[in-house]
Amino acid sequence: MKNNPVVPYILILAFGIGLIFFMSLQGADNKKEIAAEQEGGGETTEANDDGSALVQTCIGCHGGDLTGGVGPSLHGLDEARIVDVLTNGIEGTPMTPGMKNEAEAKAIAEYISTLK
Ligand code: HEC
Repeated sequence: MKNNPVVPYILILAFGIGLIFFMSLQGADNKKEIAAEQEGGGETTEANDDGSALVQTCIGCHGGDLTGGVGPSLHGLDEARIVDVLTNGIEGTPMTPGMKNEAEAKAIAEYISTLK
């Protein structure tokens, strides 16, 4: 088939299908990330135990490096204290009970204890 006028269209079509496939793969990936971020309080059974990711929800009040903002600095706190606050809360403060489940609280406490 020489100089078939349809060939360029077929090429464009193939390119378009490839692009759609690629974008849907990327979309599925983003969805997983968003689902992971929204963990904590959801009905997911799998615990997110990456402390450095979990503290992203704390920095708004405790500062970007957790040295304090609206809330106090978290550096140098006892791991047990952090777990206690995250699960039982501090009455009358923004630290409400059940902020994190036990596994997440532990991961966060371990991560914070590595901060200097
Ligand atoms: C809405 C703002 C806010 C967010 C979000 C927040 N905190 Fe707090 N946090 C506070 C405030 C305010 C206090 C001080 C409470 C008080 O007056 O005792 C506090 C106190 C604490 C304490 C007790 C500190 C101490 O000296 O005993 C810990 C531990 C703590 N927060 C950890 C966290 C962690 C970990 C996160 C993220 C999972 C988090 N907080 C998210 C506002 C916040």
